[in-house]
Amino acid sequence: MKMRKYVYGEPFETEAVLRDIEISEGNVAYGEVSLEEGFVFTYQMAENDIVYGLGEANRGINKRGYCYISNNTDIPEHTEDQRSLYGAHNFLVVSGEKTFGLFVDYPARLTFDIGYTRMDTLTIRCEEANLYLYLIEGESAYEIVRAFRKLIGRSYIPPKFAFGYGQSRWGYVTKEDFYKVAEGYRKNHIPMDMIYMDIDYMQDYKDFTLNKKNFQDFPEFVQKMKEQNLRLVPIIDAGVKVEKGYEVYEEGVKNGYFCKREDGSDFVAAVWPGDTHFPDMLNEDARRWFGEKYRILTEQGIEAFWNDMNEPAIFYTPEGVKKAQEVVKRFLQDTEGETSIFEVRDAIMNLANNKEDYQSFYHQVNGTRIRHDKVHNLFGYYMTRAAGEAFERIAPEKRFLMFSRSSYIGMHRYGGIWTGDNKAWWSHLLLNIKMMPSLNMCGFLYTGADLGGFGADTTRDLLLRWLALGVFTPLMRNHAALGTREQECYQFENIADFRHIIEVRYRLIPYLYSEYMKAALDDDLYFKPLAFTYPKDSMALQVEDQLMLGNEIMIAPIYTQNAKGRYVYLPEEMKFVKFLSDGTLYEQILPAGHHYVEIALNEVPLFIRQNKCIPIASSAEYVEAIDTKNLTLIGYQNAEYTLYEDDGIHKTYDNPSNLKKLILK
Ligand code: GLC
Repeated sequence: MKMRKYVYGEPFETEAVLRDIEISEGNVAYGEVSLEEGFVFTYQMAENDIVYGLGEANRGINKRGYCYISNNTDIPEHTEDQRSLYGAHNFLVVSGEKTFGLFVDYPARLTFDIGYTRMDTLTIRCEEANLYLYLIEGESAYEIVRAFRKLIGRSYIPPKFAFGYGQSRWGYVTKEDFYKVAEGYRKNHIPMDMIYMDIDYMQDYKDFTLNKKNFQDFPEFVQKMKEQNLRLVPIIDAGVKVEKGYEVYEEGVKNGYFCKREDGSDFVAAVWPGDTHFPDMLNEDARRWFGEKYRILTEQGIEAFWNDMNEPAIFYTPEGVKKAQEVVKRFLQDTEGETSIFEVRDAIMNLANNKEDYQSFYHQVNGTRIRHDKVHNLFGYYMTRAAGEAFERIAPEKRFLMFSRSSYIGMHRYGGIWTGDNKAWWSHLLLNIKMMPSLNMCGFLYTGADLGGFGADTTRDLLLRWLALGVFTPLMRNHAALGTREQECYQFENIADFRHIIEVRYRLIPYLYSEYMKAALDDDLYFKPLAFTYPKDSMALQVEDQLMLGNEIMIAPIYTQNAKGRYVYLPEEMKFVKFLSDGTLYEQILPAGHHYVEIALNEVPLFIRQNKCIPIASSAEYVEAIDTKNLTLIGYQNAEYTLYEDDGIHKTYDNPSNLKKLILK
């Protein structure tokens, strides 16, 4: 296996890569690099080459045939034509006639044209030739991915409770709202471990504050929830509200910790609280200061957070508003009809996440001033790093739950991600399936989508099918936007169906947790495309709606409305298992090949690979209550399984007693 590192110009040190590698001189080993206009890498793909990677990106597992842009964006419309989402994961693998991996360590806007302009050409392009290019050779795509993962360091490991189910909704405001959710689940015996607190828990959306009216005695509230074995997970937004007397604002201004305009004044961008300043997450002192603020909540009993709006999202800036006002004014005064309504519309629409705004503020990194757009894709990474580094100081032996919306490779060491504002669309359930292995390739193991869909009104069947996928994603969270149909599981008819599906999650946690831990500790994948396990099977190479999970199982979720089952492709003989609604199992050995399998709305299917087995537990209402001492093995007779188990709280990963051999007799 060969790994090469090329340097162009003066790259920004993103700290995505941990290992020191000697710099290679001369031409790249594959493809061609031109520095005539910025940086352009081109490679002629063979007809059957597959391209894997790009993490949180649109479309398929095979990225071929479209154009993707790394430009972290707050984008609630994940339609098929969307080229940028919230993350920049610039790693891909070309697999076919020649097989190699590429990581472009470049923190600004970067384009991957993968057979879009020309069907046979892969072009990677960016404006400035200041970057590191890593090239990895290997026998297979899988081997290359694993080498890459070693390069970027161990993935984030959450506490075990984070493998439980979580309920979230933008719109829970008072304590009573939260108690109602707790009661809705506990009374109906639907397992749950976490309730998420969206922006309304804060006072006027000010980070690290609590709403004065609703959360007077917050530590007591946190404790009361804990007594029900529920953890509260507050959101932290990137922007700090501009408000005289607000401690975080005052400290940030005084110490110069906020991003600045060219003239040295603090840059203003409006987000949920109205005008905010962005903490300079790239500046070590500012980062430490911001990270220390998480203590305000950990000292009140909080052990879990989600970081949001950290692309960073901008609704508008005062400068942008002024420009838009001028267009509107011109339109209103225009008697000749020279200003088109479309110009007005664009002026308003372009207020948010505007390119010019991102070019108008600066970071201070090791004494050098850097314009934001040159390092744009690092903001979420460094915000989450601020928290991660703080947790190390707060309780070095403990694990905290942390996931972020925006990210860059490197952040995978500090937290997981959720995939942002999807919609209650069946197509987004499918997108969720496809995105998972790509995210794993880039180091992001603790991930999941908003189950049921964030925007738009969900339906009972969509939520059930999506939960049946969520059973397998490390982050299993039901989350919805303000104003949408309420989608807590107890809001629908026949709650037993929901209970059953979430119970299956808890029954599988010993296996899912074990596979997660083994993947994280060994720089391996939790979710893999079938092609990684069966690289010689030409059919398996094409499958995009089934995934390998760990070493033992394959999943094939349903993602079509009114479907009573689905076609699956089995590259080898497997045992088809259905968790039936009465708590029993349906098991059937199926030969390799294509099959139609029936799966009711209240069933969870999985496929156990030949000569393998997995442990299952009895269900429990929260993770800690799972009886891991009495596991049952299902699958093939005489198969062995190595179970990883630890206390789920501390970082004692390397204890040999964490591994146990189990045999299905
Ligand atoms: C963003 C987040 C979403 C959250 C909302 C309000 O849209 O992506 O999850 O509910 O902000 O905080």
